[in-house]
Amino acid sequence: MTAPIPFNAFADILGPKGMITDPDDIAPWLTDWRGHYHGAAAAILSPASTQEVAACVRIAAEHGVPLVPQGGNTSMVGGATPPSDGSALILSLRRMNRIRKLDTAANQAVCEAGVILSTLHEAAEAQGRRFPLSLGAKGSATIGGLISTNAGGTQVLRHGTMRGLVDGIEAVLTDGSIYEGLAPLKKDNRGYDLKQLLIGAEGTLGIVTAATLRLVPAITRSATAWFGLASPHDALALLRALEARLGPVIEGFEVMAAEPVGFVIDHIPGTRAPLASPAPWNALIEFDLSGFGETGHAQLEAALEQLMTDGAIPLLDAAIAQNEAQSRDFWRIRETIPEAERAAGFPIAFDVSVPINAMPDFMLSAADACIARFPGTTATSYGHLGDGNVHFHVRAPVGLTDYPGWLKTSGEEIRHYVHDLVVAAGGSISAEHGIGQSKRAELGRLSAPARVKALRAIKTALDPQGIMNPGKLIPLASEA
Ligand code: FAD
Ligand code: LAC
Ligand code: ZN
Repeated sequence: MTAPIPFNAFADILGPKGMITDPDDIAPWLTDWRGHYHGAAAAILSPASTQEVAACVRIAAEHGVPLVPQGGNTSMVGGATPPSDGSALILSLRRMNRIRKLDTAANQAVCEAGVILSTLHEAAEAQGRRFPLSLGAKGSATIGGLISTNAGGTQVLRHGTMRGLVDGIEAVLTDGSIYEGLAPLKKDNRGYDLKQLLIGAEGTLGIVTAATLRLVPAITRSATAWFGLASPHDALALLRALEARLGPVIEGFEVMAAEPVGFVIDHIPGTRAPLASPAPWNALIEFDLSGFGETGHAQLEAALEQLMTDGAIPLLDAAIAQNEAQSRDFWRIRETIPEAERAAGFPIAFDVSVPINAMPDFMLSAADACIARFPGTTATSYGHLGDGNVHFHVRAPVGLTDYPGWLKTSGEEIRHYVHDLVVAAGGSISAEHGIGQSKRAELGRLSAPARVKALRAIKTALDPQGIMNPGKLIPLASEA
């Protein structure tokens, strides 16, 4: 039975701007980015301050009304989509979009949860600083969502995930109390780390309202290069060879099979193939040459020439961006892969990690195994090979007419099959997108009982009424 919703109490706190009840205005926020999940909600609560969030949560707790925290709604796992029974309300952080402080002396920014990632990028850049985390959804994803999914992206190799970039957190806990932890303490051993518990909690333990984020100096000299390669093994060897020759200057290292690059060229207007002829595998590398001063580009070119001449890594082709516009074009190809895949028709998508050195073998052997086990399918991958994390995608047989039917009959079997391969390789079934609703049952099926027991104990301790993002992350009793 669902609890009656105290609309008037919320409206008194939020005023007309802060509560959306028109179904047409709510509709766009009820479906996830991939279009796999469709929820229902009678209202979107849209507080403008931490105090308003706290007041809303207190009312929700008092009346037993579940809340679904939502930022940019770019979740890849249905994490921000409300349940379909209409029992919950969405609590959107999008109006809390102030950068409260950008302190260049401390290299820190204090951002509210609804600040959009690209807004923070621009603000930091204007002050000669960078927030070193980026991803394709940067124009919509919010700081609160990025924290709550412990997002990764294309700079993790050098700067780590959100866990390493959040120095402090302010949050509203499930009883409506405010946790004030914005102070950026490098050392703090007062027991359990609430900040780290909230990072990656997918909105199940409370609502992040603001965070103190770490900035780094702007890059003064950079280079972007695209390489054609025969295998992911060659790609990883290229990364290691460049690190050995140039030191820790690699800011981004992304690897893509030919297929996803082809989808981008076919479906994303204004994109062009980066190499004269398509390569089976591609590596896109961003170099921070600031430390080399004037000689940066010469040193990079010398290192690449040496690699070509000594033949240790068989490079099929290479293109170095000649200017910023070309660099942006290269990165646009990488960053629009999810959009291109959506246009081409979604595959069954996996976001997996295994130990880095094992990843090249995994990418090839898992694809071969899948294709052999499910005749007619294709399987390929792209992503963050330097972090041991790729997006491994399985596509339905070409010419299939009943895709939903195929998904229904084969989808679960394929999901189990690939996840079993990942577990056998010592990996994780969610490297960066989280569990949400799409991987909850698989987390239950594949986790040791101790993990599920601990997850449930933490959830029950911090959200005893179960009002915060119900149905996400924690496996149901029937799933573990
Ligand atoms: P939402 O989708 O709104 O929410 C995500 C989760 O966080 C939900 O569980 C929600 O309940 C919770 N949440 C949101 N805000 C709060 C808050 N303030 N307090 C508590 N809980 C909250 N991810 C990567 O890691 N790496 C990538 O490279 C990457 N690339 C992407 C590219 C595209 C094109 C897209 C669409 C997504 C990509 N993602 C990537 C997925 C990624 O998880 C999200 O983009 C981002 O982290 C979510 O931000 P959001 O504001 O949209 O959060
Ligand atoms: C990416 C998202 C899907 O890396 O995580 O493009
Ligand atoms: Zn990714």
